[in-house]
Amino acid sequence: MKPKILVTREVFDETLEFLGRHCEVESNQQDVAFDPETLARRLADKDGVVCSLTDRVDAKLIERCPRLKVVANIAVGYNNIDLPACTARGVMATNTPGVLDDSTADLAWTLILGAARRLTELERRVRGGEWTGWRLKQWLGMDVHHATLGIFGMGRIGQAIARRAAGFEMKVLYHNRSRVGSDIERRLNAAYVTKDELLRQSDFVVLQVPYSPETHHLIGARELKLMKPTAVLVNSTRGGVVDDAALVAALKSGAIRAAGLDVFENEPRLNPGFLELDNVVLVPHVGSSTEATRRAMAMTAANNLVAALTGGTPPNLLNPEAGKK
Ligand code: DGY
Repeated sequence: MKPKILVTREVFDETLEFLGRHCEVESNQQDVAFDPETLARRLADKDGVVCSLTDRVDAKLIERCPRLKVVANIAVGYNNIDLPACTARGVMATNTPGVLDDSTADLAWTLILGAARRLTELERRVRGGEWTGWRLKQWLGMDVHHATLGIFGMGRIGQAIARRAAGFEMKVLYHNRSRVGSDIERRLNAAYVTKDELLRQSDFVVLQVPYSPETHHLIGARELKLMKPTAVLVNSTRGGVVDDAALVAALKSGAIRAAGLDVFENEPRLNPGFLELDNVVLVPHVGSSTEATRRAMAMTAANNLVAALTGGTPPNLLNPEAGKK
């Protein structure tokens, strides 16, 4: 008998076709997120789940799913999953690292350039008929080339962002829980600095750390005050890493120049203050959202799930201890 699985949100046809070869699949192709009660009911008799960052997989849910063996998240971030609770119940959890690095780095760069050159603000002005002709001092932006880029989080995506900085001949600083190898630093031409040094020296501060209790409000009022008044903040990682209320205040008062944001606290409900500001570029959590990357992410999650349910070790297992239970 094939194992039974739930796919909580819409995926691509080839993902479903692959899963169907190995599992009895129940899928939510309507793509409306299940509320916690519906999710628990649908998952109660399943052996595995392919889920996304909009699904909370916590201890309460796992308790109600006695057959569950694997939680395959379609995302590299997994702050929606209670990993210790999974491990305690012998449930394997997996993510989708690697396949989205370049697309996410490209989006971080879109935000860097967009915020520096006021792209969305100026597009609104053009559409609103405000452009009456060329002027020397018109809507001036700031240079990205030869500026200093500070990256918080020098994992795979942080490194992909740093690689792109070479083309702009930037000085690259980074801060990370632990320093990366000197070969990587040399290759990226990146210098390790403390958190406060990075904030003080950078023209562009890009956040690429995973969200956790330790990184909650990594950037708040104190940190924003340390940044240059001409600096730009880019958050392309997770809402909650920035204190959004403090950021709105800093953008309003001119404590920093601009921001580019792909992620928000309590998304999709944004702090309404952002909507009143011209000096912030806002996009809706689309860091990895290219056709090829989203297809690869879904397939990576499917491969992880099938490996777990057919006696193998999923390539992207987050909690190897779970497999031993
Ligand atoms: C991730 O993979 O964590 C992204 O945020 C999802 O697009």
